[in-house]
Amino acid sequence: MKKIITSLPQLKKLAAWIAARMTTGKEKKIGLSGPLGAGKTTLVKLIAKRLGINELVSSPTFVLMHEYRGNKITLTHIDLYRLSSADRDTVREIAEIIDNAQYVAVEWPERIPAIAAKLEKIYHLRMGESENERIVEYK
Ligand SMILES: Nc1ncnc2c1ncn2[C@@H]1O[C@H](COP(=O)(O)OP(=O)(O)O)[C@@H](O)[C@H]1O
Ligand SMILES: [Mg+2]
Repeated sequence: MKKIITSLPQLKKLAAWIAARMTTGKEKKIGLSGPLGAGKTTLVKLIAKRLGINELVSSPTFVLMHEYRGNKITLTHIDLYRLSSADRDTVREIAEIIDNAQYVAVEWPERIPAIAAKLEKIYHLRMGESENERIVEYK
């Protein structure tokens, strides 16, 4: 599937659709891949909001992981941008956290194949033609 997003309301709609798939159990653990600035963190923020989490989701690029707790929902947001497969202890720790988490969104999943393998769906984001355009592809 391929979606072209050209505005924030459109991205919100996609976030609502992804959040619904998470809460109905279709995919509770997802990955968001794509270059810096593609909109991965922005999408996670919107998904969190949609899951009923009011706490602001900040970019975890410099902090590997954040947990966002709503009423009955916990979204674990992980960013693998700075992690290497060679960092075996951290990779093992993150894999364990993902196993035990309720809902998970991982940025840069392709950096660590062992972690990508734990995710049920990967959304690929990239820049479109114009400044606010983004292309989202998934299987
Ligand atoms: N249609 C869009 N979808 C997502 N982000 C957009 C869009 N148009 C503009 N942006 C902007 O692009 C930037 C994406 O940044 P961010 O979500 O941090 O990207 P990433 O996490 O992929 O590096 C934000 O400043 C956001 O406001
Ligand atoms: Mg990001």
